Amino acid sequence: MEKKRYTKPQTIPREELERALFQANEELSQANEKLNRQEKERMELFRNLSHDLRAPMTALVSTIGLLREKKDMPETEYQELLDMMARRLKNLSAMLDEIFLLGQMENPQLELKLEEIDAAALLEEFYYSCEADGKYAKRSLSLSLPEDLQCMIMVDAQKLVRVLDNLFTNALRYSKDGDEIALSAQLIGEKLQICVSDTGVGITPEDLPHVFERSYRADRSRTPGDGGHGLGLAIAKSIMDKHGGRIWVESVTEHGSSFFLELPALLEK
Ligand SMILES: Nc1ncnc2c1ncn2[C@@H]1O[C@H](COP(=O)(O)OP(=O)(O)OP(=O)(O)O)[C@@H](O)[C@H]1O
Ligand SMILES: [Mg+2]
Repeated sequence: MEKKRYTKPQTIPREELERALFQANEELSQANEKLNRQEKERMELFRNLSHDLRAPMTALVSTIGLLREKKDMPETEYQELLDMMARRLKNLSAMLDEIFLLGQMENPQLELKLEEIDAAALLEEFYYSCEADGKYAKRSLSLSLPEDLQCMIMVDAQKLVRVLDNLFTNALRYSKDGDEIALSAQLIGEKLQICVSDTGVGITPEDLPHVFERSYRADRSRTPGDGGHGLGLAIAKSIMDKHGGRIWVESVTEHGSSFFLELPALLEK
């Protein structure tokens, strides 16, 4: 029978062991801090969302009470209250949609429905779908695409339109009668850059770094009504990240904002 040879176990120098232990400890405590921070953000998000959900619901319940009590209400007042209820319900439903989409986008397993799309065609179609809203809101809209913009992009078109839609709705929401809203695009190297800009209220330098955070609204007034919920840009950022793209903003208070999207372009080599 062959004799088993004894090999002396290699000893790791104490210093090296201590260093490895220290590093593992550091990494653990950093991961722990990150988890705590994420948990805090999640709690804050839930607090804000439940506030935003509760406020219009309370208003709806009291309006129903009013309609029950005042049986002899004039027809115009009655219609106004119904309109107000319809607006609040529409707003609530939009918010639930956004919460669902945000949850979807944060799921790492979510697969985009990628297809090769002609960028100019998508942008033109989007622009024409906005024209009526822009006119109704008395904004001056413009579209500027280079004539030779022949560029295909690999995108989940429905999701990209959600991003554009939020940028356009924001431009409408944070501007006033007569302001300008422009949609433009250009090829820069191998990237397509899309820009939605407005001459609206702009964003203060203090607010600027936070606008892509979930549930952040610059005015911080959490009042019900037609205002937003601070979710659109967080969703837009997740969508752009999932496409391997980027989103960023440049803004001057009282002069307006420009939101940029960047996506890899499929160029014929
Ligand atoms: N074009 C803009 N001009 C000025 N401020 C803007 C503009 N776009 C976004 N903001 C600021 O950034 C905040 C976050 O925007 P975001 O789209 O995430 O939320 P929202 O429009 O308030 O609500 P939601 O999109 O969920 O309906 C806004 O509340 C607003 O304060
Ligand atoms: Mg928005």
